[in-house]
Amino acid sequence: MEALEAILTRRSTRKYTEQMPERELIEKIIEAGRYAPSGSNSQKTHFIIFSDKELLTELAGIVQGEFAKMEITDDMYVSLKGSINAAKKGGYVFYYGAPVLIVVANRKGYGNAMADSACALENMMVAANALDLGSCWINQLHWLDDNSTVRAFLEQYGLLKEETITGGLIIGYPVNGVPERTMTERKGNPVTWVEVK
Ligand SMILES: Cc1cc2nc3c(=O)[nH]c(=O)nc-3n(C[C@H](O)[C@H](O)[C@H](O)COP(=O)(O)O)c2cc1C
Repeated sequence: MEALEAILTRRSTRKYTEQMPERELIEKIIEAGRYAPSGSNSQKTHFIIFSDKELLTELAGIVQGEFAKMEITDDMYVSLKGSINAAKKGGYVFYYGAPVLIVVANRKGYGNAMADSACALENMMVAANALDLGSCWINQLHWLDDNSTVRAFLEQYGLLKEETITGGLIIGYPVNGVPERTMTERKGNPVTWVEVK
């Protein structure tokens, strides 16, 4: 698939089969993330790949339990409120049962931590689309970055104490066979052309 087509047809996929993508495809997606630009070429974005079903189920249980303890406040993002409400109901699986979850982290206190991570995440989402895999940015672990139970779990699997969880990505084979690719009209993201008279 040509690069611009992969960018313009990338959509979030939230329904996956249990089929594990081939290791080579996962590696290509990680490579796309690692080749993203970074401020001062710092290359501090850290990719922690979970593909073990039992570990993912354990993590989902921890996330559900920690969100369920939280109280909703007015200043919270709508989607964070949604996660807390879903967790309080029970059976909340923040990664939609995808076979692979990539946790993305970067250095605490580094001013470009989120920007560098976002570049990597977008590269990976576009790469997944080009490889006929579905993907979706998953933010719940970022919201739980300060949560000691979540951190204790992730630190067993490579998250460093000096890292902040900036985001996450799920990948897998979409239930429909191919990734969601419907292009939606852009009504937001305004563009201002400065015309010199
Ligand atoms: C910073 C960021 C955080 C997001 N967090 C989540 C999330 O936690 N769960 C989810 O299902 N989608 C998440 N998304 C996906 C957005 O909902 C999605 O990109 C948006 O609705 C546009 O749809 P599209 O990706 O299909 O074009 C996130 C996207 C971004 C950029």
